[in-house]
Amino acid sequence: MPSHPSIARRPVAWGGDHTADAIADLLAASPAHHVSGELIRKRLKLTRSAVWKAVGRLKREGYGIAASPHLGYRLDREPDTPLPRLIRNGLRARTIGGAIHAFRTVSSTNDTALALAEQGCPDGTLVIAEAQTGGRGRLGRRWHSPAGSGLWFSVVLRPKLAASGAQALTFLGAVATARAVRDLHGVPMTLKWPNDLFLEGRKMGGVLTELSAESDLIRHAVIGIGFNVNLPAAAWPPELKAIATSLQAAAGGPVPRVPLLRRILEEMETRYAFLQRSGPAALVDEARALTPMIGKIVRIQHLGQVREGTVVGMDPDGALLLRSAAGTVERLLAGDVSILR
Ligand code: BTN
Repeated sequence: MPSHPSIARRPVAWGGDHTADAIADLLAASPAHHVSGELIRKRLKLTRSAVWKAVGRLKREGYGIAASPHLGYRLDREPDTPLPRLIRNGLRARTIGGAIHAFRTVSSTNDTALALAEQGCPDGTLVIAEAQTGGRGRLGRRWHSPAGSGLWFSVVLRPKLAASGAQALTFLGAVATARAVRDLHGVPMTLKWPNDLFLEGRKMGGVLTELSAESDLIRHAVIGIGFNVNLPAAAWPPELKAIATSLQAAAGGPVPRVPLLRRILEEMETRYAFLQRSGPAALVDEARALTPMIGKIVRIQHLGQVREGTVVGMDPDGALLLRSAAGTVERLLAGDVSILR
């Protein structure tokens, strides 16, 4: 649970207005050129006041639209905001992000996604928020999720997988994110088992997988991904300053969030299809290759227990294999790892 009580407020949805979608498309088809109000009204069969309202809505969503009484409306700038119409624009994934629920603010996208999953939403449904008031990490830790600076989202999956294979779903989110960041920005992300995205000793993101299972079979899973994209160093709360980082620091400047999100969803889609066809082995292999702790001497803390040893590998379920000084190999399913040497 979050370290502060979540605020029981109705989430504020955004995007998803068909009139605004249609006007945004029309203006985007002639960027930097005026489109007359009359043309918009005729083409979309709208009244003057409906156009005016929808343009106001687009402006509130961050669109730069110039309005001139004689010339009409001109699109100067699209926002880099995870609005459904912007996410869908050019998305090469069908299942992941096939349905999108976007919010200005929610308590936790995982909570919203879990509720939607219970209500029967489609496989691959994306829930994304500009800000979270009760973002959660593993072991009930709070996840700092301010507006405008990160990607905070959850994907509902209905995999054919035993609950004991759930670590593969965490890898699915982590590997897809690491690959997208590597491919688009050349930043060599690594995984810190079991669920962290790391760069040079600092955490840039994390994955929280939550499940509903029946007789060891997953009914649905929610993969929650938090990725710090454009948080300037000065904006971190004091307790996170030394341990967290964001992509903008590594990339040398602000990074557009929506194209990165699209790429993550596409990377998830290919791996999800493969997981459904062939099982988790390939994902575990990919995660292993991105995990630099194999071969290192580590300390692992979990539920008050501390273990030390050498990481000798990962088993087919994604459990970490730790060899103690006495030579016995233990299989660990969770824990906080510190690399000693
Ligand atoms: C961790 O590092 O412990 C996992 C962090 C996961 C955070 C994401 S943000 C989107 C989704 N909603 C949440 O409340 N948590 C996950």
